[in-house]
Amino acid sequence: MSVDLTVREALDAAIALARTARRVTILTGAGMSAESGVPTFRDAQTGLWEHFDPTELATPRAWARDKALCNAWYLWRVHLVRSVAPNAGHEAIARWATVPGRDVRIVTQNIDDLHERAGSTVLAHLHGSLFAWRCDICHHPAPTPHAPATPHERLAPDRCKRCAHGDIRPGVVWFEEPLPEAEFDAAIEVCREADLVVVVGTSGIVQPAATLPHLAGARGIPVIEIDPHETLFTEFATVSIRATAAGALPALVDALVATAG
Ligand code: APR
Repeated sequence: MSVDLTVREALDAAIALARTARRVTILTGAGMSAESGVPTFRDAQTGLWEHFDPTELATPRAWARDKALCNAWYLWRVHLVRSVAPNAGHEAIARWATVPGRDVRIVTQNIDDLHERAGSTVLAHLHGSLFAWRCDICHHPAPTPHAPATPHERLAPDRCKRCAHGDIRPGVVWFEEPLPEAEFDAAIEVCREADLVVVVGTSGIVQPAATLPHLAGARGIPVIEIDPHETLFTEFATVSIRATAAGALPALVDALVATAG
């Protein structure tokens, strides 16, 4: 549906849509945090872990086979995320929510906490969080374990203090695991009930998160895509802004703030 627009034209079209939208749902993926320096899934495969396939590490099977390896890999990512800051895109989204009369809902596939650190409340972390650990047997929540500042190939997981049988695992959704039901239901609802859906930095490859923009599109709700590259959403997006999150979002929100009464 979208036609080829320059970034400026696309931004203007997006600003016009944003001006009239009261209920705004923003869906974010790995590209949202790229300019903060959060390594994407594959970029994280450096150093000690470069010889491991990420899809082999982010599975219940990998955990069962080698908990210390899996634990160390996630704790290294905890350290990496703690050492970076939200970017101008995260900050713009937080500002959007403060525009009078706007109800902005954030649904993210990211397991970092950069939206929260920019001041946003996240409605749904569809793929869990690096900061929500739990027992792998009794599921009782546990504090995030100590994350060393240097990478270790193996770190034995903490033992659950509640049941004393399980090990503390990262609260992320691994391949082959279901999404958290309540969060996915909430995400479906805000995509169906929105006046505008904005999709930022997600390729649209990973299901079922990738179905969400289509729920909006099927109801005639405008969908804005912000991504430097074409994605699986491009074909049906109302407007595609070929720019980065930190480039496009501040310009969009500045224009909105300037005219909001
Ligand atoms: N700003 C906006 N988008 C960007 C930027 C940027 N600075 N840099 C890259 N992108 C875009 C890429 O062009 C791509 O379309 O971000 C998208 C990232 O796509 P994926 O790496 O597939 O990330 P995502 O869609 O979030 O992956 C979904 O897969 O790896 C698993 O569970 C993990 O949550 C993740 C899920």
